[in-house]
Amino acid sequence: MTNQKPQRENFGSKLGFVLAAAGSAVGLGNIWAFPYVVGSNGGAAFIFIYLLCLAIIGLPVLIAEILLGRTTQRNPVGTFKALSKSKLWYSVGGMGVAAGFVILSFYAVVAGWSLGYIYEALSGVLVEFVSADKAVEHFNSLTANPVWIIGMLFLFLIFNMLIVVFGVKKGIEKSSKILMPLLFVLLTGVMIRGFTLDGADSGIDFLFNPDWSKISWTTVIIALGQAFFTLSLGMGAMLTYGSYMSKKDNVIISAIEIVILDTSIALIAGTAIFTAVFAFGLNPSEGVGLIFHTLPIVFSKMTGGYLFSIIFFILLFIAALTSSISLLEVVTSYFVDEKKWNRKKAVIIMGTLVFLLGIPSALSFNLLANFKIFGMNIFDLAFYITFNFMLPLGGFLIAIFVAWIWGFDKALKELRVGAEKIFEKSFWQISFWQVFLKYFAPILILMVLLNSLGLLDFIINSL
Ligand code: PHE
Repeated sequence: MTNQKPQRENFGSKLGFVLAAAGSAVGLGNIWAFPYVVGSNGGAAFIFIYLLCLAIIGLPVLIAEILLGRTTQRNPVGTFKALSKSKLWYSVGGMGVAAGFVILSFYAVVAGWSLGYIYEALSGVLVEFVSADKAVEHFNSLTANPVWIIGMLFLFLIFNMLIVVFGVKKGIEKSSKILMPLLFVLLTGVMIRGFTLDGADSGIDFLFNPDWSKISWTTVIIALGQAFFTLSLGMGAMLTYGSYMSKKDNVIISAIEIVILDTSIALIAGTAIFTAVFAFGLNPSEGVGLIFHTLPIVFSKMTGGYLFSIIFFILLFIAALTSSISLLEVVTSYFVDEKKWNRKKAVIIMGTLVFLLGIPSALSFNLLANFKIFGMNIFDLAFYITFNFMLPLGGFLIAIFVAWIWGFDKALKELRVGAEKIFEKSFWQISFWQVFLKYFAPILILMVLLNSLGLLDFIINSL
């Protein structure tokens, strides 16, 4: 027996697990994507729909993913092998591992910019812009340089690998315990600075005063996609972290804490950014470039801009780093569990392959800018396939698997472990989980998938 099941590492405490999982959740999705998605989709009304998606789909799927991992104590492929006899289900785990690989390759490109921008901030460049055009020009001149963009990608992945190679306790848990509180403090500092600016209230108004006329089907679909991405769902990251969770700990409470932390940080980031953007009369719907194009102008105009520009890009880097390690961990755990590689070998080989795969994504901003597949450059394509297709499909299949294949009798038995008190007191809340997972999540996610394939409009129009 012993040589079949080598001792697997675990998180040292529930706090360690929650901080690591929140570290995975809180990332570029919260600080880079959330504000620009909110900005381009009308503000408060979008946030309302997004919160609804988190509650009725995000949280139930998150509980399901953590539970699967904790039950089997295996990577995504091993988990399906343990709970099902069908090769089709193993491939769902395999798709998760592949998604981890691809997401990390383009995620690390943007994360690398945050690293490069820390240097720009330190050197004082980010407080010297007199107009928006100059900030965009500066961003373009950096990303147009293949050496800069590949260099930053490389450097970022080195940080990532250095953490993952130390394993679950000494690498992931320890770094999350230091970096997550630091992130929180830095971000709160930036938010307070935002509040104190003249004109900050129009930013708050934009974020928290809904204009319902802005809501459409597309809003719902974008909100759902964002909810998935931000909670790191659908590709086994939460499953893998769950596999290192102790059976003494409570899956339900941990999942709720992760959602609360993730949502608070997105809202704090939104507040920090929009109070400043509105105070200086800039455009909230700038899109993908919001933090790299617009914020440097804010820093240039704001008293204390030098310090805040440094703080901001450091916190962006931290957020991206703690997410990216969960991506590499999914891939690593697969090779360690299933292929019996040692951790060091898995991290070095897979980290190097991710770097190689990231190069074409990085070059999409310069040398390969005109190389298009389906009208998209390689970076956009990798983003599109994973964000719109692989993650929702993975989440859909995980919900179906737990609700319909594995079955609630077995799932509830596992869920109860470590959560006995809740089971006695609030059984009806748990039946909500079942209904959401069995019906709401699959149906809504299916709509997102149909939309990605361009089929939703077709169906709605023909109704
Ligand atoms: N949740 C991360 C973010 O918001 C992205 C991510 C997706 C990380 C999937 C891991 C897995 O930036």
